[in-house]
Amino acid sequence: MDFGDPRQRAAFFAIHCDLPREGPGNRPSLLRALELVGALGEAPKVLDIGCGPGQQTIELARQLPEASITAIDLHQPFLDSLRDSASAAGVSAKIDTLNADMGDLASHFEESTIDLIWSEGAAYNLGLERALREWQPLLSPRGRIALTEPVYLSDDPPDSVTEMFEDYPGMQSIPVCRDLVSRSGYHLLGDFVLPHEAWTQSYYAPLAERLDLLEARFEPGSPEHGVLQEHRQEIANYERHSEHYGYCFLVMRVSRR
Ligand SMILES: C[S@@+](CC[C@H](N)C(=O)[O-])C[C@H]1O[C@@H](n2cnc3c(N)ncnc32)[C@H](O)[C@@H]1O
Repeated sequence: MDFGDPRQRAAFFAIHCDLPREGPGNRPSLLRALELVGALGEAPKVLDIGCGPGQQTIELARQLPEASITAIDLHQPFLDSLRDSASAAGVSAKIDTLNADMGDLASHFEESTIDLIWSEGAAYNLGLERALREWQPLLSPRGRIALTEPVYLSDDPPDSVTEMFEDYPGMQSIPVCRDLVSRSGYHLLGDFVLPHEAWTQSYYAPLAERLDLLEARFEPGSPEHGVLQEHRQEIANYERHSEHYGYCFLVMRVSRR
């Protein structure tokens, strides 16, 4: 889709407004990644980068009751929605929101002050290599990063899959990601592929429901309907080709400065 076209852009946000998540992920995966993160010490400072509507931010606040969390996104409506859900969940005192670019965090946070950087389905906006390089100075000596990254799971993904990811030339296999983590000065604490239900139940089911609701509003052949069809195609692609791609949770600590 073309974000420069106001009609397509508006359709995209009509589709994505008030969804529980903006990408694959779920609570069991968050808990598994937190196990790999390990102990964080007293009153840890946490960033959730590219937080979207913040379902995982709220779960982090529940799981890390001593932490103060800054949830960062460029899309203010997601941050507003996160504020509302955090209040409803009784964790708003633990979460600050910040409208900022993930590529400019050095102007918001001092070096060596962050104990955990969390980022689900968002680091690809910078590219894994750049994210690992630019976020490292923010981390305290015991600092960790836990992020999910889109990966190829087979050596021969079909064209319909590679076309879907052509905007992300950095997309690689898991072994290449592991190598990049290590070359970027981190020690990998563990990794795992997100399970199917993190896509189908947590992300695509509410999205498909929204598409059904909007189907009658978007005229067939219109730019809006084109955006809707692209979303249907994305869901169909996952149903058909999920053995070829997925999201990998990568959990790491700094190995050198
Ligand atoms: C695929 S969504 C994932 C959202 C959320 N982590 C989740 O799993 O539901 C990616 C998020 O990154 C945000 N984003 C994209 N580029 C960004 C940037 N340069 N700085 C901060 N946030 C950005 C988007 O607004 C969006 O909310």
